[in-house]
Amino acid sequence: MAANNFFGSFPQTRLRRARSEEWLRGMLAENSIRVSDLILPVFVQEGGNIRTPIASMPGVDRLSLDLLEALVEKAVGLGIPAIALFPVVPAEKKNESAKEAYNRKNLVCLATKTLKEKFPEIGIICDVALDPYTSHGHDGILKDGYVANDETVEVLCKQALSLAQSGCDVVAPSDMMDGRVGEIRRALDKENFQNVKILAYSAKYASCFYGPFRDAVGSSLNLGKADKKTYQMNPANSDEALREVALDIAEGADMVMVKPGMPYLDIIRRVKDNFNIPVFAYQVSGEYAMIKAASQNGWLDNDNTFMEAMLAFKRAGASCVLTYAALEIAEILGDL
Ligand code: PBG
Repeated sequence: MAANNFFGSFPQTRLRRARSEEWLRGMLAENSIRVSDLILPVFVQEGGNIRTPIASMPGVDRLSLDLLEALVEKAVGLGIPAIALFPVVPAEKKNESAKEAYNRKNLVCLATKTLKEKFPEIGIICDVALDPYTSHGHDGILKDGYVANDETVEVLCKQALSLAQSGCDVVAPSDMMDGRVGEIRRALDKENFQNVKILAYSAKYASCFYGPFRDAVGSSLNLGKADKKTYQMNPANSDEALREVALDIAEGADMVMVKPGMPYLDIIRRVKDNFNIPVFAYQVSGEYAMIKAASQNGWLDNDNTFMEAMLAFKRAGASCVLTYAALEIAEILGDL
């Protein structure tokens, strides 16, 4: 067997020999996690001095902008390079046309502007999708009960422009409409936002693991029993993810994302092996909730489980990980 020529065989070869000391295990580690790999998703809500815990995401709160500033200051202090900003939009600002999405004075634009002024060194990533703004909770505009692709893309372009104008560094289309990356790129370039980057949620699956996030932004009530299977991908598919990524790269994506994270490590690896592009992984709300719930019950060790999950993302080929545990992980890394 060819492998024998390279690796020898027992008893001359004992792989456990190299695992016997901590210093050597560290030296031989093939992958590692650094603070610069972490992106912290945060939820901003209207008002002042308001902190609303999210029951299904222990340790994560919706914050008014003043309190969010303190959180971002902490993230900057720990060396976290970027945040992903999600707005909690009050019911009266949601409607069928999602027009609040491109209001240049909306909550997420205001938060972006304020945070960028106070903390110019941290990257701000904003979602491009209509679900926080639609009364039905879908990521796009409904026409005869179907999320209409091209009409939605028009609104997404306006949304991306408002975000760019408020100082957002990276727009992240998470809506899974066809052709949106190219249209957003054209719209940004036309307004001289050539340096605004596009992180495409290219392989985004119609997943149950988003449940707690939908509680957090309040879209689960609007969505009701509906699902997003006519635009988000079927969890059964993997070849299709590569086609999505290929199209997004051709349309001008700077970075692509696979989402959810840990149940889809195979997709991260296939994308990494097939394309020379940075791949981001999103450890989504449900993944975070599972680890938190188990560790709160004493069934899993919180810190070690998060660290292992992060290594798994890196091993699969991810450049960075969006994780609600970014602050905790940064603190652990700082103590090592
Ligand atoms: C909105 C969006 C979702 C998430 C990020 N952006 C939810 C969805 O598509 O329903 C999920 C993030 C998470 O679960 O942590 N398009």
